[in-house]
Amino acid sequence: MAILVTGGAGYVGSVTVECLRARGEVVVVLDNLTRGHRPAVDRDVPFYEGSVGDRALLAHIVREYEIESCIHLAALACVGESVAEPAQYFENNVAQGIALMGGLLQAGVRRVVFSSTCATYGEPEQVPMQEHSRQWPSNPYGWSKLLLERLLDSYNTAYGLKFVALRYFNAAGATENRGEQHEPESHLIPNVISVALGEQPYVPVFGDTYPTPDGTAIRDYIHVADLATAHLRALEYLRHGGNSNFLNLGTGCGFSVMEVIENARQATGRQIPFRIHPPRSGDPPRLVADASRAQAVLGWKPMRSDLLSIIRSAWEWRLRHPRGYVTQDETGDLVQRDLVTTEDSPAAR
Ligand SMILES: NC(=O)c1ccc[n+]([C@@H]2O[C@H](COP(=O)([O-])OP(=O)(O)OC[C@H]3O[C@@H](n4cnc5c(N)ncnc54)[C@H](O)[C@@H]3O)[C@@H](O)[C@H]2O)c1
Repeated sequence: MAILVTGGAGYVGSVTVECLRARGEVVVVLDNLTRGHRPAVDRDVPFYEGSVGDRALLAHIVREYEIESCIHLAALACVGESVAEPAQYFENNVAQGIALMGGLLQAGVRRVVFSSTCATYGEPEQVPMQEHSRQWPSNPYGWSKLLLERLLDSYNTAYGLKFVALRYFNAAGATENRGEQHEPESHLIPNVISVALGEQPYVPVFGDTYPTPDGTAIRDYIHVADLATAHLRALEYLRHGGNSNFLNLGTGCGFSVMEVIENARQATGRQIPFRIHPPRSGDPPRLVADASRAQAVLGWKPMRSDLLSIIRSAWEWRLRHPRGYVTQDETGDLVQRDLVTTEDSPAAR
């Protein structure tokens, strides 16, 4: 019996695979590598390069490995891109997500852990945000995740599909061998580190007049290894007959952009210049989780998520892997990643 991890070559997925394997779980990865990195998954893990919407491939994997549960992380996950290209997001995240859930049900797989997001809440009416807070996403990415949440809830009622939807806040940090590498990179911490390394001249800070103590936006950063552990706990919870659930994964502590930069100066010992830019529309001043339900339901709490440790781990990963993940092109030559950034939202993802 094995666990199917979709999106296992991505940032959170690869760390989740690492965590599951460390606990002796048997894992199979399905990833189309549109955003992931083949070297992020160990060679001895069965790996299928393909899309979650490919029903024939899914049926083959489920049969071949006797899949008992699925951790579904595969998605496109850039807020700004989803505004510019909503069709891609609804096709990839929703249409393919529907195909995946249909294929799993058809094959008799009835346990799913789903990567959802704080972006399903949109502009919060109250902070810290609770699971029953109003959900009204401010972008197509958030809607694509909310639609899958609704689908899972209906399939639970109608077909007995048991799921845990984990609403992550801002994933950050690295393990020894796996870290964050998106191209382009829209997330704050890897971009701050890139500035510390001299790869970019400054950190763009979007807005300094928010109603927060230093005027910059506040987010809840959660170490990727803590997120990975929560997936394992959610799986165990479902295996023990737990009911379907929606759970926030965050620390309950928020840090402003300026606090992140200040902590990064300490962690790296480097200068980190920044420049104030106008705020982006739809970027709320404060997004912080109330994660008490995850603690009550899963017995989970973040262990590595103090901001300085998060930034140190990300910094150390970049120092150990200065070129990030490196892949080979058809000629066998090593291809280095392009280090580029966008001004996409570092906020709700
Ligand atoms: N990183 C965060 O802070 C954050 C926050 C909230 C939620 N999430 C969610 O967590 C999940 C993982 O995020 P991440 O940061 O690791 O993203 P990522 O882009 O690093 O990983 C996603 C992986 O899914 C793969 N993929 C995408 N569409 C696919 C498809 N149709 N079929 C097969 N593979 C496909 C990509 O190739 C990639 O390897 C996503 O669902 C994202 O929405 C992430």
